[in-house]
Amino acid sequence: MARLWILVCLIVVIAFSCGSVKGLGVNWGTQATHKLPPKTVVQMLKDNGIQKVKLFDADQSTMSALAGSNIEVMVAIPNNQLESMTDYSRAKNWVRRNVTRYHFNGGVNITYVAVGNEPFLSSYNGSFVNVTFPALKNIQNALNDAGVGDSIKATVPLNAEVYQSPSNNDVPSAGTFRSDISSLMIEIVQFLSQNNAPFTVNIYPFLSLYDNDNFPFNYAFFDGTTTTVQDHGISYTNVFDANFDTLVSALKAAGYGNLTIIVGEVGWPTDGDKNANINNAIRFYNGLLPKLASNTGTPLRPGHIEVYLFGLIDEDAKSIAPGNFERHWGIFRYDGNPKFPMDLSGKGNNQYLVGAKDVQYLSKQWCTFDPSAKDSSKLADNVNYACTYADCTPLGYGSSCNGLSTNGNASYAFNVYYQTQNQVDEACDFEGLATVTSENISQNNCNFTIQIATSSSSPRPVPMALALLMLLVF
Ligand SMILES: *[C@@H]1O[C@H](CO)[C@@H](O)[C@H](O)[C@H]1NC(C)=O
Ligand SMILES: *[C@@H]1O[C@H](CO)[C@@H](O)[C@H](O)[C@H]1NC(C)=O
Ligand SMILES: *[C@@H]1O[C@H](CO)[C@@H](O)[C@H](O)[C@H]1NC(C)=O
Ligand SMILES: *[C@@H]1O[C@H](CO)[C@@H](O)[C@H](O)[C@H]1NC(C)=O
Ligand SMILES: *[C@@H]1O[C@H](CO)[C@@H](O)[C@H](O)[C@H]1NC(C)=O
Ligand SMILES: *[C@@H]1O[C@H](CO)[C@@H](O)[C@H](O)[C@H]1NC(C)=O
Ligand SMILES: *[C@@H]1O[C@H](CO)[C@@H](O)[C@H](O)[C@H]1NC(C)=O
Ligand SMILES: *[C@@H]1O[C@H](CO)[C@@H](O)[C@H](O)[C@H]1NC(C)=O
Repeated sequence: MARLWILVCLIVVIAFSCGSVKGLGVNWGTQATHKLPPKTVVQMLKDNGIQKVKLFDADQSTMSALAGSNIEVMVAIPNNQLESMTDYSRAKNWVRRNVTRYHFNGGVNITYVAVGNEPFLSSYNGSFVNVTFPALKNIQNALNDAGVGDSIKATVPLNAEVYQSPSNNDVPSAGTFRSDISSLMIEIVQFLSQNNAPFTVNIYPFLSLYDNDNFPFNYAFFDGTTTTVQDHGISYTNVFDANFDTLVSALKAAGYGNLTIIVGEVGWPTDGDKNANINNAIRFYNGLLPKLASNTGTPLRPGHIEVYLFGLIDEDAKSIAPGNFERHWGIFRYDGNPKFPMDLSGKGNNQYLVGAKDVQYLSKQWCTFDPSAKDSSKLADNVNYACTYADCTPLGYGSSCNGLSTNGNASYAFNVYYQTQNQVDEACDFEGLATVTSENISQNNCNFTIQIATSSSSPRPVPMALALLMLLVF
């Protein structure tokens, strides 16, 4: 039976591709203390039929792993490099080194260059407002000059905060660009249109819920039946459609109602907030993926939408300025284990995705609070220290490890620090408050994890030449 299924699947793969919603992509962020090897991740993408990936840089080891894979790739210029891209010769150099270099048979199929990442977030206080458009122009012009501009487009992934509807007429059809950047947005849109490049937007129903306690809960998902917004005869039952159509209206008002829109990021986190959990993530993806597969689009833009899920793997080193959930967006855990059943083809046949293969872990040992420790007056200081340098977000309110005892909290913090430090002995001392154990101290839904072994993280033996030198000196 299994064999028959494999055969059927193979035939289907050849005919249509078995894996995922047509054109479905994922965001591959790498802000983790312990990264899976890029080749392992690429194999995981292939094993799950994922055909597109969006990166946040153009890291050489990532690009090498993607070479020859047939996966379509969006490479990116980080915000802190935008200013230098306002110089055309540096933009040309970037394109030469990070794009055209991979443009050969068996190389990397780059389809987009993301110029910055949400550069107009209001929390950036306008830092990138003057450099983003010049950088966009230079990069697209450099792509055009290099002769690849027809197949590789520059775009700017923007947060949904760049457009809005007035508070006294809060309906999608009233959407316009944010007033402080309105003329800039119109210039950008004009340029994208001239170059047949898409508008890229990140849409987060989770954040709508997180930011506003009065937000109607079901409206964040796709299975709500209550009309929450009524707009000139159109009934909106989910905030994703309403948000997307607010952008469609803003583009229309600017005179570019037909500009292609791609969704650069959309997803649901599984930890770090009362609404960030596996059940809500399942509910969200169970609505999103079939919707994408059906190509219904939104009321104002029926049809196919190109979408990149956020994200692929949890990232334990991301800034938690936006919230503790930031480190838990992955559809896979930090180690490439799938978190929950889902069906990327949007047919609703939920199964665990194929996890990362041949993952190497550190030893099965944990660091725990030592109950025989005499002086626990310094416990709080030590927990603080551990949580400054390692990821304690699961301990917070509404999170998977909230509700542990004081000692449980300490053990969690000590262990995550110890793992982050690759289990070196000194990392499990905490002024005599901690001890190493081989007993799995995980509790209920609270996972005391073992980190993965990465080649750069294994303690390096002293090289032979150095050892000899030391012998000579002493
Ligand atoms: C290529 O991209 C990487 C990663 O974004 C960046 O650090 C590097 O400076 C780029 N190369 C050039 C020549 O600009
Ligand atoms: C790269 O992807 C594009 C878009 O799907 C496709 O049309 C093209 O054939 C691919 N190029 C290569 C070299 O595989
Ligand atoms: C933006 O301004 C606020 C308030 O003045 C400040 O706290 C924050 O650090 C600034 N952010 C950046 C990225 O400059
Ligand atoms: C952007 O340019 C304007 C107008 O020249 C200037 O007032 C503003 O200070 C600049 N912003 C930054 C962050 O450089
Ligand atoms: C925009 O799309 C509409 C509907 O598909 C079409 O009728 C119209 O010609 C398009 N306009 C432009 C400028 O492409
Ligand atoms: C454990 O840590 C969390 C997060 O810092 C805190 O909210 C909770 O009150 C702590 N529990 C105890 C018993 O100290
Ligand atoms: C430890 O126990 C938890 C919960 O029982 C389990 O999910 C996890 O896989 C175990 N960890 C290891 C490294 O065996
Ligand atoms: C804990 O993490 C391990 C390793 O990723 C995973 O296999 C296991 O399912 C997790 N257990 C729980 C209870 O989350």
